Amino acid sequence: MKTRITILGENLVGKRVGSGEHGFSAFIETDRGNYLFDTGSGQSVVANSLTFDKDLRSVKKIFLSHGHFDHTGGLPEVLKVRGKVDAHAHPNVFSDRIAVHKENGKETKRFIGIPYKRRYLEFLGAHFVLNVAFTEMEKGIFLTGEVPRKTSFEKPDPTLYTELDGETVPDTFPDDQSLILDGEKGLVLILGCAHSGMINIIQHVMDKTGKETFSAIVGGTHLDFLTPEQLEGSVTFLKKLKVEKIGVSHCTGMKAACRLHLEFGDRFSYGCVGSVLEV
Ligand SMILES: [Fe+2]
Ligand SMILES: [Fe+2]
Repeated sequence: MKTRITILGENLVGKRVGSGEHGFSAFIETDRGNYLFDTGSGQSVVANSLTFDKDLRSVKKIFLSHGHFDHTGGLPEVLKVRGKVDAHAHPNVFSDRIAVHKENGKETKRFIGIPYKRRYLEFLGAHFVLNVAFTEMEKGIFLTGEVPRKTSFEKPDPTLYTELDGETVPDTFPDDQSLILDGEKGLVLILGCAHSGMINIIQHVMDKTGKETFSAIVGGTHLDFLTPEQLEGSVTFLKKLKVEKIGVSHCTGMKAACRLHLEFGDRFSYGCVGSVLEV
């Protein structure tokens, strides 16, 4: 399967045109059809689709990596263009999500979950197809399902919470899933925010597919938000991995992106709005 990935939603703009926002969305063209992975937070996905000539009406399926607003907030805008379409996600995509920040002794809570009711999205045309386990969506296209946490150096983000039975508790992100395309030259792995841990996800993908060669790993890696041990452990693992291209975006953070560039040279690219990666 040949694949072309165009970044339609991202924090940074690097192509003179297009709009940035806090979020992530990738338009995926394959010889089996076109797909949308995440929808950004809603301000720019449709405008960027027009700027970069990616027809959202052609999208066969939408995949949602997890329930944060910066990945799901663009759903209504996309649905108004696309109409009826399958939207694949984990059941916990609809959970309430909270970010808690402490600064100068002051605590601020923000709601960061999916900003729209399921029923509203269904009225706009979403047909939710929910999965918990690793699932083949179409021949050669998989969602990871829930990812086992195995590495010692990938820790949960201590600022992220969810609400369970009226209580605010640390978010374990059972809904965090990534997309896999089984390409001619290896697997293409597309991450949302990698809240399960980028390396946990890669190991899970290798376990489930029985394959070890990646032609590309792209998307949000969350590497800059956590501990130095996580960045070091992740870089050490990635250097041993058979991976041709690393194209990070969104929650990777500039410091971690620079480090990956130093380590991987020309195999590294930053996926800003409008970037295209072909494999
Ligand atoms: Fe995100
Ligand atoms: Fe997230």
